[in-house]
Amino acid sequence: MKVIVTGGAGFIGSHLVEALVQQGAKVQVIDNLSTGNENYLPEGVPLYQLDIRSEEAGERIVFEQPDIVFHQAAQVDVQRSVKEPGYDAGVNIAGSANIIQACMQASVRKIIYASSCAVYGDLNSPLIEEQDPVSPLSFYGLSKLTPESYLRIFHELYGLEYTVLRYANVYGPRQTPKGEGGVVSIFMDRIRKGLPLVIFGNGEQTRDFIYVKDIVEGNLAAITRGNGQIIQLGTAVSTSINDLMLKLRNIHGQNLISTYQQERSGDIKQSCLNNVKALQDLKWQPKYDLNRGLQDTYDYEINRD
Ligand SMILES: NC(=O)c1ccc[n+]([C@@H]2O[C@H](COP(=O)([O-])OP(=O)(O)OC[C@H]3O[C@@H](n4cnc5c(N)ncnc54)[C@H](O)[C@@H]3O)[C@@H](O)[C@H]2O)c1
Repeated sequence: MKVIVTGGAGFIGSHLVEALVQQGAKVQVIDNLSTGNENYLPEGVPLYQLDIRSEEAGERIVFEQPDIVFHQAAQVDVQRSVKEPGYDAGVNIAGSANIIQACMQASVRKIIYASSCAVYGDLNSPLIEEQDPVSPLSFYGLSKLTPESYLRIFHELYGLEYTVLRYANVYGPRQTPKGEGGVVSIFMDRIRKGLPLVIFGNGEQTRDFIYVKDIVEGNLAAITRGNGQIIQLGTAVSTSINDLMLKLRNIHGQNLISTYQQERSGDIKQSCLNNVKALQDLKWQPKYDLNRGLQDTYDYEINRD
């Protein structure tokens, strides 16, 4: 199987590339290295250092004619999307349209798109379902949502096969503190530097933290399942930021200090994704509980130079 991973040098993309290589796939990566790192790629995986908005990126896909394209590349900084909506839309909307069109022209078997729980905004619901209304609070949420419609329309017009995977808050080794699921990597970064963990508001806001290896398994399952579907990849378990801090204290030691600062405007109060559809359509369910995933992430982050 021949595969192209856009954003393959990034946090999630590089774990996906590793797993695909282990499965014996012939993998190539398109990444402009804006947040990614070439060193995250397994040896022998070709990197095309291209922007997803460029003609060259589209031409590469058409030339290679891969079976599957995993589209992970994106501008992932929510704050930047608010400050520079044009840039954010350029990468996440126009860049995605460029990649999707190339997939159609290359007659790929399927494109699998990394979407996000940010598309929902603040639903005030304890467990979000795929059919819940979407109302993003940031331009990032909107720019991740729009390519879902491009995929649907490309499918209707040209029969291009696709699956949309809406990820919960992903964490794990190699995560950049700037990305949307960033709180775990921000906390890890502060632990490494011996700084207190800063919690905004009362810390009772909740998130659905999912380990990166589970996200990889969800992507692999989508190679053969979930055609034409929008599917959430989450744990269906809510964890407050206070609970997260306590878990990290258990791992690191009681000397881990936290401080509280004023609530940030626009912070979502609760976000947790139902995963029943993923089980039905992809035969996927998460395998890592938060304690295990955090321990693995801690071991990697604290021991790296
Ligand atoms: N991390 C999360 O919690 C989370 C949650 C929901 C969805 N997602 C989605 O998962 C995907 C991967 O995110 P991540 O957390 O691994 O972030 P990341 O920043 O580590 O990875 C993104 C990759 O895309 C590359 N990239 C960015 N702009 C590009 C461009 N114009 N052309 C080519 N390459 C470009 C970067 O260099 C990087 O390697 C993104 O689509 C993101 O929206 C992530």
